[in-house]
Amino acid sequence: MGGFEVPPSAGEEWDRRYAASDHVWTSEPDALLVELAGSLTTGNALDLGSGEGRNACWLAAQGWQVVAVDASKVALERVAARAEKEGSAERVRCVLADLVDFVPDEGAFDLVVVSNLHLEPALHSTVFDRAKAALAPGGHVFVVGHHRDSAGLAGPPDPERLYTEERLHSALRGLDVLRLERLSRRHEGHGSAHDVTDVVAWARRATSAG
Ligand SMILES: C[S@@+](CC[C@H](N)C(=O)[O-])C[C@H]1O[C@@H](n2cnc3c(N)ncnc32)[C@H](O)[C@@H]1O
Repeated sequence: MGGFEVPPSAGEEWDRRYAASDHVWTSEPDALLVELAGSLTTGNALDLGSGEGRNACWLAAQGWQVVAVDASKVALERVAARAEKEGSAERVRCVLADLVDFVPDEGAFDLVVVSNLHLEPALHSTVFDRAKAALAPGGHVFVVGHHRDSAGLAGPPDPERLYTEERLHSALRGLDVLRLERLSRRHEGHGSAHDVTDVVAWARRATSAG
């Protein structure tokens, strides 16, 4: 062994988790995303940290053109396979990238999804700033993540990676926040299910400045 260890990248860690199981998360799309995005005219969507693509593939099946970004190759292979199986392959583009580096095209997306992405604090505001910049005028962002009160029950153990209403409100500054609340939700993963507190937000970029 050398004198120090290089920490594994987000992709390596997540590849290991995905490779250890056929399906790590539920394959159902987020129920609130279905409710909120279901009434929108379809367009271009960006799913940041798409995982195995439950939201990206649902959106593609509705007619959205989706860019699914994740650092895990294993997860993205599952997204591509599922989209192919569901006849949506031409509507899903998978991008293997670490969100540290990934900068989406500005103003290009009618919907940005940030679902259960619990980033280290230093990356959190960068990713949200890029997500907001990626919105087209009138575009929506959907965010869901585990509340800090659920630390130890769901998501990463570090509470600094989890959400509060205030943290999310501040991350979405500049958008019209249409909905922002905590919810008790069923959390499924790793073969178990229990109730946890989540925070969800639905916000919109104004159609024109001023
Ligand atoms: C908890 S899973 C959520 C997956 C999906 N959004 C969902 O709601 O089912 C988090 C995902 O974010 C990805 N991820 C975490 N950190 C990342 C980073 N820095 N860059 C890109 N992807 C990342 C992981 O690979 C993983 O697939």
